[in-house]
Amino acid sequence: MPFPRIIGTGFHVPENVVTNDDLAKTVDTTDQWVRERTGIRERRWVAPESGVGPSDLAEKAARMALGNAGVGAEEIELIVFCTMTPDRLLPSSACLLQAKIGAVNAAAFDVVAACSGFVYGLATVESFMKTGRYNTVLLVGAEVFSNRLNHEDRTTTVLFGDGAGACVLRNGAEPGGILSTHLFADGSQHQVLWVPSGGSVAPPTVERCGKKEMFVQMQGPDLFKIGVKRFCEAVDAALAHNGLSPEALDCFVPHQANARIIEMVQRKLGLPDAKVVVNIDRYGNTTAASIPIALHEAVTAGRIQAGSIVLLASFGGGLTWASALIRW
Ligand code: UT7
Repeated sequence: MPFPRIIGTGFHVPENVVTNDDLAKTVDTTDQWVRERTGIRERRWVAPESGVGPSDLAEKAARMALGNAGVGAEEIELIVFCTMTPDRLLPSSACLLQAKIGAVNAAAFDVVAACSGFVYGLATVESFMKTGRYNTVLLVGAEVFSNRLNHEDRTTTVLFGDGAGACVLRNGAEPGGILSTHLFADGSQHQVLWVPSGGSVAPPTVERCGKKEMFVQMQGPDLFKIGVKRFCEAVDAALAHNGLSPEALDCFVPHQANARIIEMVQRKLGLPDAKVVVNIDRYGNTTAASIPIALHEAVTAGRIQAGSIVLLASFGGGLTWASALIRW
């Protein structure tokens, strides 16, 4: 059986920095509240009405990942694009990205699993690669969430950011790479974090637009409690499957939903700060892009080296939660 490895990473965020003080000019919030309750200081948003979609951010991240991997776009056999804010309902953002980077030999499709999207995408890619069907794959997580937010709702507008992260994976004969992935879901709780209208069940109408039903709605405190529990379950599944204790981890890259959630999981695992990647202060919650952006920053900073044991874990809308263990 071949061993899929991540051989190059990349990222891109919009230039436009939006601070908590910027948001305090339009909604009833303060820099202090947002920092203390979430850990977020600022986020990046595309310029309004700029026409920039997740495939544009992903193009830059993908070109960086391809460059770092030393792989040409025409060598890519599959593109998996994880997003909950696709450029359009049709076609997939994966197909748009395929054209933008010239990956003419690649199959392409999107994966929708909200904040767990990247880990769900990694598991999809792992399966295709371990069966030998595809050997060189591009996996991206990219979101333009700023266009899906009700900017009058202080409970959501302060949380989310735009961005993209990308990984190039290649099969090799040397044991290691993706050791395991674990995916979970509970659709019975889908209304805890959802966009009520805009799909086939409740198509866009003037009335629904007026009621802001096309934007994300969230029951934050419920999600917080469920999130900590599910995060820990996903982590436990990865450690138990591989017969590892938390001390064996060299780097933990959690989904960046809330710094307080990350701290609680970190405490449970007993991990020092040096082993936990946190960048929510600069980007907010970029949903499917948060793990690949954090992963790229950890690799670039030398926090992940050849042989490092890396744990990814996520939790989000669906509800979904997931983990992956990697020997780098
Ligand atoms: O990535 C996907 C998964 N997402 C998550 O896991 C998010 C999980 N949830 C959270 O991170 C937190 O629940 C939030 C950050 C969303 C909210 O923090 P919280 O500590 O749970 O606050 P809360 O919703 O219980 O609200 C406390 C107070 C309320 O006021 P009252 O009723 O006590 O007067 C809110 O209205 O804070 C108020 N509030 C705000 N105040 C200033 C809510 N949002 C804001 C705001 N600025 N932006």
